[in-house]
Amino acid sequence: MSEFVTIETEPNAPAKQRQKSGNNPAVFIQTYGCQMNVSDSRTIEALLGEAGYSFADSPDIADIVLINTCMIRETAEVRALGQLANLSALKKQSPHKIIGIIGCVAQAKRTEILKSHPYVDLIIGPDAYRKLPLLLEERFISPPGTPGLLETTLVREELYDDILPRHRGGVSAFVTIIRGCDKFCTFCVVPRTRGRERSRPLVSILREVEQLLAQGVKDVMLLGQNVDSYRSEDHDFADCMTAVANLPGIERVRYMTSHPTEISDKLLQAMGEHERIMPYLHLPFQAGNNRILELMNRHYTRERYLEIIASARKLVPDIALSTDVITGFPTETDAEFQDTFDLMEQVRFDTAFMFKYSERPLTRASKMKDDVPEAVKIARLERLIDLQQRISKESNEAQINRETTILIEGTSPKDKKQWSGRTPDFRPVVLPRSSEKLGDVVPVRLQSLTGFTFHAERLSQ
Ligand code: 5AD
Ligand code: SF4
Repeated sequence: MSEFVTIETEPNAPAKQRQKSGNNPAVFIQTYGCQMNVSDSRTIEALLGEAGYSFADSPDIADIVLINTCMIRETAEVRALGQLANLSALKKQSPHKIIGIIGCVAQAKRTEILKSHPYVDLIIGPDAYRKLPLLLEERFISPPGTPGLLETTLVREELYDDILPRHRGGVSAFVTIIRGCDKFCTFCVVPRTRGRERSRPLVSILREVEQLLAQGVKDVMLLGQNVDSYRSEDHDFADCMTAVANLPGIERVRYMTSHPTEISDKLLQAMGEHERIMPYLHLPFQAGNNRILELMNRHYTRERYLEIIASARKLVPDIALSTDVITGFPTETDAEFQDTFDLMEQVRFDTAFMFKYSERPLTRASKMKDDVPEAVKIARLERLIDLQQRISKESNEAQINRETTILIEGTSPKDKKQWSGRTPDFRPVVLPRSSEKLGDVVPVRLQSLTGFTFHAERLSQ
C-alpha cells in the first residue's frame, strides 16, 4: 500500500497539554509509516483502553512507550529505529518504563533488535497485537526491574474486525478494510511483514463506520494494501465502497491503495456516479518501462497502465490522480528510466510520491545486484521531483477560479481566523471563518495559492 503520508509521526503535544488521563498505567504510541500503521495504532489504543490503560501525550510521562515502526524503505526503518535509540536515555532515567517496538520492523527483525537494542522490553508484529494486554499484564505483575524481553511470534494472520479503533476526534477517519498483500512485488517487504490478504466482513466495516459517524466523522478513508482485492461473500470492493457511501450522514469516502492489475471499471463507474465517493485515485505505477515492470513482478505493462488512466479520466469527471514511483531499481538503464520520466510527463499526475530504490530484507529484489550507483538513483529521483513539482504547480494553477466545495476539517494552524479543509479531489484550502462548523461542506471559489494551499471565498448556497 502506498504511504500517502511518507512518514506520519504523531506530533508531541505542547508541554502544557501533556497529561495522563487517570491513574492507570499510561501508554504513548509513536507511529511511523503508512496510514495502515496509524490505523493499527488506533486499534491498539482501543485494545489497551478496554484493558484499563490510560493514554499519555508524551513519552516522558508515559509508563509504556510503543514505537510503531515502518520498514517499507530503508529511510523509514532508520527513522523509527533512531527514535528507539533516543528512548534508551529515557529508559536509563526511568528503568520501570516499558519500551516496546511494534509494527513491521518488529515483525521482520526481532532478532537483530534484540541484539542492537537490549533495553527494549517488548517486541511484537502486526498480527500479534491482541496479545499486548496479556504481555503488559505479565510485565506489570513481575517484580519491578525484572530483566527479560516480552516477545511473541506470529500467532496467526489477525484481522481485528471485532475491535472498534479508538477515534481521536475530528471529522476524518481511516478504516482498514483489508489487511496483508499477496502481490509480492519484488522490491516490497510488505507481504513478509503483514502476511496474506484478509478482507474484513462488510458488516463489520459498516458497523465501524456507523460508530464513527455517530462520533461526528464525515470523511472516511478505506484502507488496504490492495483495496481492489477486497471480497466479502459475493461483495467486491466497489460494493463495499458504495455501501459505505450510502450510509446516512457520511459526506465523503475515499480509498487507498489500488493496484493496476485489479482496479475495475465497476469501481471507476461507482466513483463517477456516486456523489459521496471522491474523485481521487492513487494508482502506483512504480516504473514506466516494461522490462523493469516485469522484474518488479507488477503484472501490467506501461500500455495497460495508460489505458486504465484513460478510462479513469473518462469515467470520473475532474478526477485527481496520484501515484508512487521508484527510481534505480536493479539494472535500470538511463533509457529505461527515461520511459518512467516520459510516462509521468504524459499522464501529468496531480501528486506523486517518488522514491529511490532501497534494498529491503526478505524480498526477491534483494537477491538481485543493487547495481545502480546511489548517485544515479538520486539524480534520476531529482529529475522526477523537478518534473512533478512543475506539473503539480500547473495542475493547481489551473484550479484558480474553479467553483467547488470544501469539507471543514479544522482551524488553520497558521491562522486561527481561517478554516482549513479539502476539496473533493483532496487539495488543501483555507477559508475565512464564519458561522460554519467542523464537518460542514461549504461551496467555495478557489481564489489564489500559497505554496500548495488554496485561499477560497465562500459562495452563497
Ligand atoms: N525501495 C523504494 N521504494 C519502495 N517502495 C516500496 N518498497 C520500496 C523499496 N524497496 C515504495 C513503492 C510503494 C510505496 C509505498 O513505497 O513505490 O508503492
Ligand atoms: Fe503494494 Fe506490491 Fe508491496 Fe503489495 S507487494 S504492498 S502491491 S508494493
